[in-house]
Amino acid sequence: MTISERAKQIVTGAAPGAVGAPLDRVDGRLKVTGTARYSAEMPVANVAHAVIVGSTVATGRIASIDASAAERAAGVIRVITHVNAPKLTAGALTLLQDDRVRYNGQPIAVVVAGTLEQAMDAASLIAVTYIEGAPAAIDMAARKMDAYKPAGGQPDSIRGDIEAGIAAADVKVDARYSTPFVNHNAMEPHATLAVWEGDELTVYDSTQHVYGTRNGVANALGIPPEKVRVVSHFVGGGFGSKGRMWSHVPLAAMAARAVSRPVKLVLMRRQMFGPVGGRPETSQHIVLGARRDGTLTVVRHESVSHTSRFDEFVEMCARVTRTLYAVPNLETMHRIVKLDVGTPTYQRAPGEAPGTFALETAMDELAVSLSMDPIALRLKNYAEKDPESGRAFSSKALRECYRVGAERFGWSKRSTRPRSMRDGNALVGYGMASAAYPTRRTNASASVRLMADASGAARALVQSATHELGTGAYTVMTQIAADALGLAPEQVRFELGDTRMPPSPVSGGSMTSTSTGSAVHLTCLAAKQKLIELAVADRSSPLFGTRPENITAANGRLSRTTGTRAEESYAALLARQPDGAVTVRADIRPAASEYVTHAFGAVFVEARVDVELGEIRVPRIVAMYGGGRILNAKTARSQLAGGIIWGLGMALEEKTLVDHRTGRYLNADLAEYHVPVNADIGMLDISFIEEADPHVNPIGVKGIGEIGIIGVTAAIGNAVYHATGVRVRDLPITLDKVLGTARA
Ligand code: MOS
Repeated sequence: MTISERAKQIVTGAAPGAVGAPLDRVDGRLKVTGTARYSAEMPVANVAHAVIVGSTVATGRIASIDASAAERAAGVIRVITHVNAPKLTAGALTLLQDDRVRYNGQPIAVVVAGTLEQAMDAASLIAVTYIEGAPAAIDMAARKMDAYKPAGGQPDSIRGDIEAGIAAADVKVDARYSTPFVNHNAMEPHATLAVWEGDELTVYDSTQHVYGTRNGVANALGIPPEKVRVVSHFVGGGFGSKGRMWSHVPLAAMAARAVSRPVKLVLMRRQMFGPVGGRPETSQHIVLGARRDGTLTVVRHESVSHTSRFDEFVEMCARVTRTLYAVPNLETMHRIVKLDVGTPTYQRAPGEAPGTFALETAMDELAVSLSMDPIALRLKNYAEKDPESGRAFSSKALRECYRVGAERFGWSKRSTRPRSMRDGNALVGYGMASAAYPTRRTNASASVRLMADASGAARALVQSATHELGTGAYTVMTQIAADALGLAPEQVRFELGDTRMPPSPVSGGSMTSTSTGSAVHLTCLAAKQKLIELAVADRSSPLFGTRPENITAANGRLSRTTGTRAEESYAALLARQPDGAVTVRADIRPAASEYVTHAFGAVFVEARVDVELGEIRVPRIVAMYGGGRILNAKTARSQLAGGIIWGLGMALEEKTLVDHRTGRYLNADLAEYHVPVNADIGMLDISFIEEADPHVNPIGVKGIGEIGIIGVTAAIGNAVYHATGVRVRDLPITLDKVLGTARA
C-alpha cells in the first residue's frame, strides 16, 4: 500500500511505551562479543584479496605502468590497470579507464591475490612513470581568484536591502574565518566484498545507502540494478563519507568478475585520505551590523570552499545563517574553487558545522563590541518564525535551550571582561554558541510480518533497508515498531541493510529516524489495523461483528472497548491465518508541510588556557537540545556526545596537511592526524527540552545525528577568547595561536 499523508491527520503517538526509554542497544551483545558481522567479515568462501595502488602525483598522465614483477609475485591472481581494465562507466569516479591522473592517491591499479599480504607485497612491486601535468593546484587560498558560483542548488540568497542595513548599523563586525580540509576517519574503513553468482552480484559494503550503492554499481558495470544486491548489516561509522559510492566499490566488483572469485577490498587507513572525500577547506567572510541595543540590521555571509577538478561539491556554510537570526537584510553566497584533489563530500553537519564556526564567532565578536552578554544578543535577534520564508517553525525550543543550558552551566558566574577569570596557571573562559540543523524527511518503505511463535506468543519481523552506523537504528526502530504494534520490544525483530528489503533513504542528513522511523511507525499501525479488521470479520473470533473503531490493540491483545467485554490475543488470531502470519508493506510519501522544521540547541563551554604553555583544555561542555521527541534517551545522548566530541576535535586538533607541490597527504594516519582521545574529553552534560511536535512527522522526531557537532567549535573559540583575549578565526585553535599572547 502507499500511504500519502495529509498534514496533521496523524496524531503523534505519545502513549507510554518503549519509545523514549533508555533501552540498551538490541545489537549491543553482538557488538561487544565480536559477533556482529561487518562487511569485510561476512563468511564467504574462496575470497581473494584486492589492494588498490594509488597515484603518487596529482596531475598528468601515466607514461608506463610495469606490472610484470607484481604479476610474478607469490599468490598474485591478477593485476588490473588502465591498460587491461574492462570497460566501465566512470562518471565522476576513477575506475582505471584511462591514463589520466587527477589527484594524488587516485586508483591506478588493483592487485588481486590469494592473501592480503600477497596483494600488498605485489602492489609495492608495480613500477609507474608519469608524464607530469601542469603544476598541481592544492592551495585554496592561492586560487581564490578562480572561485566561481556553483551551478546547482541555491548558492546565493538575498533579502531586504544590504546597503540600508549597513547604513543603519551603529556597530559592525567584518571578519574572515577559515576551517581546514579535514578527513573522515571512521573506525571501520571503507570495505567492499563482491560476490558474483552467474550474472548476479552481491556486494557486502560499508555504506550509508544500500540502494544508492546498488544503483551506482549497476550503472558503473552497465548491468540492471535488479542484478545487484547490496548488504550492509553493520557500519563502523560513516559520517557522510559512506553516503555516496566511491571508486573502490565498482573496482571490487570488476575485479571479482575478472578473477571469477569473490573479492574483498578494504581501504588502508592512508587511503581514507584522498579517494573517499573529506570536508573541504572553507574561507568565510562575515559582515554583521547592529544597532546599539544589539538589534541586527544586516548580515552578509560569503563562503568559499574547494572541490575537485572533475566534480562539484559545495560546502553550504551560509545556509544556517539564513534561518538562525531575525535579520531583515541578509545576503549569503557560496563559491567554489577547483583543486587537484579528490572530490570532497558531506561530513557530519555539512555546511552547518563550519558555517556556525564563522557565524557564531562573529556574533561573539559583536557581543564584545556592544559590551553585551552573548546570550542577550542572541535573544535580541531571536527568530520567532523562519526569517527566510516567513513561515512558522513546527516547534522551536531554542529560547529554553539558552535559559536551561545557561543555568546548568552556571553562566551567571561569568565575568564580562576577557582575561578576568583565573585559576592558578589557567586563564579560564566561558563561551557559548547556538546550534541549528534542518529536519529533513523523505520517502521510505517498510514491511512487517506478524506471526505466532512456538510458545504461542506473537512476534513481529520488521524490515526496512536502512543502516546501522553505530547510531542505534536497530534499537530505535525496534522501539517504534513495538509501540505501534502493541507489542513488547522483545517480541520485535528489526532487520535492515539489504536491498531485498523495502527501500529507505541514505542514512544521512539526520533523516533516518524521521524518514524510516515514520515508515516503520505507519506500517506497523497499518498492520495492527489489519489485525483488527481480520478479527471483526472472522466468525471464529470472539470479536466477530464488532465495529473496528471499538477495538483497541495493546500488549499483544485485541480488546472490545464497548458493551460486553471480549478479547483475543494476536497469536490466536494469527494462528488462523494462511501461513499463520499477516504481512503488510507500506511506502510512505511525506506530504509537503506548511511549517519550517528545525532542531535547535545551545552549547556552553569552559576552556582553560595555560598561561605559560598555551595549552588549551576543555574541562566541561553543557549542551541543550530541542530535538523533538527523543526516541531513546541512551542512544540519543551517545549520538550527541559523539558529535560534541568531534566538534572539540574540529575546534582544537583536526587538519589534513597536503603537500602543495605534490598533493600528497602528509598526516594520513591516526598517529599524525589528531582526533580527541579520552584524556581530551572532560565532563559532557547533554540534555533535551522535550518537544511534542505534531507537525514535524508522525513520530514527532527531528533527527539528532548532526546537531551535536554544530556550534561546538565557536563555543570553544569564544571560551578561549574569553580566557585569553585572543580571537582565533582559523581552525584548529592550536596552542601556537594563543602562546605568548596568553602570557600575562
Ligand atoms: Mo551525514 S554528513 O548527512 O552522512
